[in-house]
Amino acid sequence: MTVETMEPQLAPRDVSESQSEMAEVVLPNDANPLGNLLGGRLMHFIDIAGAMAAHRHARSYVVTASMDHIDFLAPVHVGDLLILKSSVNRAFHTSMEVGVKAYVENYISGSRRHIGSAYLTFVAVDQRGRRLPVPPVVPKSEEEKRRYEGAGRRREASKAERDRRHQLQAQELKNSAE
Ligand SMILES: CC(C)(COP(=O)(O)OP(=O)(O)OC[C@H]1O[C@@H](n2cnc3c(N)ncnc32)[C@H](O)[C@@H]1OP(=O)(O)O)[C@@H](O)C(=O)NCCC(=O)NCCS
Repeated sequence: MTVETMEPQLAPRDVSESQSEMAEVVLPNDANPLGNLLGGRLMHFIDIAGAMAAHRHARSYVVTASMDHIDFLAPVHVGDLLILKSSVNRAFHTSMEVGVKAYVENYISGSRRHIGSAYLTFVAVDQRGRRLPVPPVVPKSEEEKRRYEGAGRRREASKAERDRRHQLQAQELKNSAE
């Protein structure tokens, strides 16, 4: 099937078509008693920013399948302007890896400081929650190609880890039944 004869929904898409950016002012309700943004709240913002890019790429509903390891590199304070940038690194069959980077922007100087990032996997679904195929990503810049390759390696590694955990759980169930 050529790209021209493919369903428009599944035609390959550039990374730039779904790249997203979201801004949030950190409010007291988002913070701990020291006035620093709660880690869980930052993860919530990362999830929303990641879903924006995934929705735009898949043009469907999506669910979060996983969020990988996240480092909180520096505290974020009440009143800070938080910027989250997301892009789809690679699409597989029904899933997509999305990278999200979080920054604090100093609105006086205009400078941005990187405060955390994560990779998330979203799965495209229809209104009834049934999985849907997603269009491929076309990486163009060197950076996009590097992220595309990295997404393939991370998928293999996380799949191997999931298989290992499933085997362990199955073994533990078997042991407890004996
Ligand atoms: C994510 C979910 C749809 C996967 O369903 P499943 O029946 O396990 O599906 P499969 O094993 O066939 O996997 C479907 C795709 O998801 C990917 N996937 C499944 N679990 C994953 C995980 N933990 N991490 C990354 N990718 C995952 C698979 O690699 C596969 O990708 P592909 O189609 O591109 O090859 C299902 O587990 C689910 O609905 N989870 C709840 C999602 C949710 O509610 N999220 C909000 C947080 S509460």
